[in-house]
Amino acid sequence: MSTTMDAISDHGSSHHIDDVDRSGPPLVEMEDISISFGGIHAVDGASIDLYSGEVVALLGHNGAGKSTLIKILSGAYKRDSGEIRVRGEAASISNPRDAKTYGIETIYQTLALADNVDAAANLFLGREIMTSLGTLDDAAMEAEARKVMGRLNPNFRRFKEPVKALSGGQRQSVAIARAILFDAKILIMDEPTAALGPQETAQVADLIKELKKEQIGIFLISHDIHDVFDLSDRVVVMKNGQVVGSAKTTDVTKDEVLGMIILGKCPPGAQPGPGAMKD
Ligand SMILES: Nc1ncnc2c1ncn2[C@@H]1O[C@H](COP(=O)(O)OP(=O)(O)O)[C@@H](O)[C@H]1O
Ligand SMILES: [Mg+2]
Repeated sequence: MSTTMDAISDHGSSHHIDDVDRSGPPLVEMEDISISFGGIHAVDGASIDLYSGEVVALLGHNGAGKSTLIKILSGAYKRDSGEIRVRGEAASISNPRDAKTYGIETIYQTLALADNVDAAANLFLGREIMTSLGTLDDAAMEAEARKVMGRLNPNFRRFKEPVKALSGGQRQSVAIARAILFDAKILIMDEPTAALGPQETAQVADLIKELKKEQIGIFLISHDIHDVFDLSDRVVVMKNGQVVGSAKTTDVTKDEVLGMIILGKCPPGAQPGPGAMKD
């Protein structure tokens, strides 16, 4: 765990831990991305980036364009214009399979788990470990499942139960473990705590801190600034498809971020984007 003190200030979170590796090019750069649906500019000239071990929170009202922007990164939507780079190299992403080859994994709100089978079966869905006899190697899969869950969520014990019996937070850890086993380097979490209670939300926060330690970069989409303020290294606010601004989370207050979300007003501690209110 890092003991860096420079991330600590009287702004924002006081117990913030900076594991971010900024020595190389960003893990991801999305530059000047646009997409329209019919006449609607859902995303309009948006640029965002992400480093290893960094959590970048993407904030904004419903309809701001957050999900659409990250769906372009995950290959669910094809952009009209703009560039995507992964580790400094132009990335060609036009479908989810392409995104996965770059280590980009998305945790959907619906989690996309197979409800009637256990955690191990979910982790290995579609790429089961086989024995030399061509049968399912259940023991090997359970051992791997215990290993990855032990890293992510050491309190997880319910390996023998169908995942439909698990709590929302536990299901979330299964979905994340699955992405990690797929060798995710870039994790997209779209409103991961929207359907969770306070205790489970705290569990997801712990998961995110573990992923940071493993140098995974995370785009965390939320419309709740309290949810993300303690977890994110940077915040990026969108409004009407445009980036209002971005800031180190410790350089802005919650009130200032609210001003960005509601008014599009970019505070002094943030770098203004094309969507910043002109005064
Ligand atoms: N598949 C789609 N077809 C038509 N319009 C869409 C589609 N996806 C998103 N939009 C529109 O794009 C805008 C941005 O939506 P979205 O990215 O979901 O916002 P957010 O995630 O910030 O709430 C909205 O006006 C929404 O209605
Ligand atoms: Mg959304």
